[in-house]
Amino acid sequence: MYLRKLFVETYGCQMNFSDSEIVSAILTDNNCTLTNEIDCADIILINTCSIRENAEKRIFNRLKELRRLKKLNPRLIIGIIGCMAERMKDELLDKEPIVELIVGPDSYRDIPNLLSEIDEGRKVVQTELSTDETYGDIRPVRLDSNGVSAFISIMRGCENYCSYCVVPYTRGKERSRNPLTIIEEARSLFEQGYREVTLLGQNVNSYLWESSPNMNFSTLIAAVADINPLLRVRFATSHPKDLSDELIDTIASKNNICKMIHLPVQSGSSVVLKKMNRKYTREWYLDRITAIKTRIPDCSITTDVIAGFCGETEDDHQQTLSLFREVGFDYAFMFKYSERPNTLAQRNFPDDVPDDVKSRRLNEIIELQQNLSLESNRRDIGKSFEVLVEGQSKRSKQKLFGRNSQNKVIVFPKNNTEIGSYVSLKVVGCTAATLLGEISDVE
Ligand code: 5AD
Ligand code: SF4
Repeated sequence: MYLRKLFVETYGCQMNFSDSEIVSAILTDNNCTLTNEIDCADIILINTCSIRENAEKRIFNRLKELRRLKKLNPRLIIGIIGCMAERMKDELLDKEPIVELIVGPDSYRDIPNLLSEIDEGRKVVQTELSTDETYGDIRPVRLDSNGVSAFISIMRGCENYCSYCVVPYTRGKERSRNPLTIIEEARSLFEQGYREVTLLGQNVNSYLWESSPNMNFSTLIAAVADINPLLRVRFATSHPKDLSDELIDTIASKNNICKMIHLPVQSGSSVVLKKMNRKYTREWYLDRITAIKTRIPDCSITTDVIAGFCGETEDDHQQTLSLFREVGFDYAFMFKYSERPNTLAQRNFPDDVPDDVKSRRLNEIIELQQNLSLESNRRDIGKSFEVLVEGQSKRSKQKLFGRNSQNKVIVFPKNNTEIGSYVSLKVVGCTAATLLGEISDVE
């Protein structure tokens, strides 16, 4: 039987990347085979992101580029899946004649049937959200894998309704995946040689498996860590309001739970945080940071921040800068506010910070963070770390790179070290982005 060649292209967050692995598994079980060559594909699926307007613009530009392939091969099926499918189905159908399949994040199991409908000449749209779909039974096909680290999706959806955010509308209600399937997936990855898993969800610390009341995120991450001491466990993303002392203590208690917490702050001003509907204040956030620093002294802390949210004053912005200095983040993802249709902010507050002011504030945060990252890396010079080796350095054939528990990249000379093994490295230099290491004999 002819296997259709599938090409999947992913935009957006780690969750989206993990979803592409789920979609690939569903389709390779249904008469498709994966290809890396877009020009040879019978089906192209674009897994899209809606989080900022720019992300959506990129997809429309990409579709323009793909018109050429559709002209060459009229039987080619081009599909839009993920967050934009849900949000923009009407516009996509109207404006993009080459798109024949539109499938939202909870309908991936339907894709094989929908493809048959397309074969019969129809365009198909399936964007209904579910309250219980977790794809828990599906074993993702690992895409772009280094064979060392992998993502495991543990929950879907979000009900926090931060006022700027489109995710509750595109991904629907929060639901947790059966822990047995998560632990089984992690164990199987370990047996295949993987040495690091990242447990993924929009807000992992509200993970809850109700049929076994003790299974919250802390107990789940501990259970995954117990599979084998050589399996590292990471997680993303946490909401500060749910970061419990119990979770911090669990991270501290197990060597193989990585000492890194990504804790999006979004703003350093309590007034802005209230408008963002973040449900914590600057003081609460700083209290959580103190809890992390006292209980896990070697923990790295990273964040997300938005510059120029509705009504943000110069003083609010200064408070963001001062919070960055006070925490000393090791790394940050920094964004300019982008109004999203139908969110609480779009309905209730004018997007009133001029674009040049947003850009200037963003640049000030970026510049500060560059210095903080460099300082953080300089503090590591002279220290030794256990590093999981991930691959060849992009810059030099004689070098490998890996990450320490804190998720910092360390580049070091090859020296017969194998990818997927642990090595003890002493940091001998750094840039703002990377540490330079040497094999150390001190454990
Ligand atoms: N504008 C700018 N940044 C946003 N984010 C989410 N929504 C928006 C928006 N409307 C950022 C937040 C979030 C990260 C994934 O994207 O910082 O944590
Ligand atoms: Fe983008 Fe959010 Fe959807 Fe991820 S969940 S793809 S960040 S809109």
